[in-house]
Amino acid sequence: MDFREMVCVVTGASGGIGRRTALDLGASGAQVCVAARRRERLTALVDAMGGPEAGHSWVVADVAQRDDVRRLASHVEERYGRCDILINNAGFARERPFDGPGAVGDLELVMGTNFWGTVFCTAELLPLLAGSAPAQVVNVASMAGRLALPGASSYCASKFAVVGWSEAVRPDLARRGVRLSLVEPGFVPTEGFPQRGLCGHRLLRHALASEADVARAILEVIAGDRSARVVPRWYHLLEVPRVLIPPLHRWAQGRAAAGFHRLSGP
Ligand SMILES: NC(=O)c1ccc[n+]([C@@H]2O[C@H](COP(=O)([O-])OP(=O)(O)OC[C@H]3O[C@@H](n4cnc5c(N)ncnc54)[C@H](OP(=O)(O)O)[C@@H]3O)[C@@H](O)[C@H]2O)c1
Repeated sequence: MDFREMVCVVTGASGGIGRRTALDLGASGAQVCVAARRRERLTALVDAMGGPEAGHSWVVADVAQRDDVRRLASHVEERYGRCDILINNAGFARERPFDGPGAVGDLELVMGTNFWGTVFCTAELLPLLAGSAPAQVVNVASMAGRLALPGASSYCASKFAVVGWSEAVRPDLARRGVRLSLVEPGFVPTEGFPQRGLCGHRLLRHALASEADVARAILEVIAGDRSARVVPRWYHLLEVPRVLIPPLHRWAQGRAAAGFHRLSGP
C-alpha cells in the first residue's frame, strides 16, 4: 500500500511495538505524529525517521488524560489538517492477584491508559478522521482480550473492554467512513512486557512474536480488509478449547492460576 500523503498518529510510540510501527509507516512514506510521555524518546524517534522536514512530529501526551489527548488532536489538526490513520497502541500491564492490596488501584490505572486512552484518542480524533475519510483506526488489543490470564486481571479487563468496545462501535465509525480494526498480539518481548519466563524457556520461546511481526501485521491490516488479526496467527487455536471444550479450558486456567499463586506467594 502507498502510504505517501497519509497522516498517521501512533500512540505509545516511545518504545516497543509503537516505535517499530512508526518507523515502518515512516519508511513507507507516511507522515507520522508520534505520542507518548517520554519526550526524549519521541524526539530521537522523529530524528531517526528523517525529522520534522520529512513531515514527522511528536506530542508529549498521557493518553489517560483527556486534556492531553485534546492537545494531541489540536496539534494534528493545526500541523496537518487531516488524519488518515490512528493507531491506539499505548498500554501497560500490572500483575498481581486481586485478593491482595492495591489491586483496585491497579485496575483504575490500567483501564485509564489501555481502555480510556483508546476511547479518548478515537473520540478526539474522530472529526479529523471522518473529514479525511476513508480513514482507519487500529486498536492494539491483546490475546488477553479474548483469553483471561491468571494474575493479570486488570490487564485482561482493559483488553476485553477494548475488544468489546471496538466491536460495538465499528458500525458507528463505518458510517463516518472510518474503518476500525483490531490487532491482537500474543507474547512479544518488549521493555514493558519482557516475557522473561518465555524467553528463557527452551520450547516456549518459539511461541514469542517480535515487535517487527506486530508492526507488519498492523500495516497489513491497514492495507487489507480484515477487521481483526492475531499475532502470530496460530494463536487463534488457543481460543478453540474455550469455545468448544469449556471444561478443558477451565482445567488449563486452573493449572495456570495455581502456578501463578505458587510464584507470587500466599
Ligand atoms: N508485548 C506484548 O507481549 C504485548 C502483547 C499483547 C498486547 N500488547 C500491547 O501492545 C501495546 C504496546 O506494548 P509494548 O509491548 O510495545 O510495550 P512497551 O514497549 O512497554 O511500550 C508501551 C508504550 O506505551 C506508552 N505508554 C504507556 N502508558 C502511556 C500513557 N498513559 N500515555 C501515553 N503513552 C503511554 C509507553 O511510552 P511512555 O512510557 O513514554 O509514555 C510506550 O511507548 C500495548 O497496548 C500492549 O498492551 C503487548
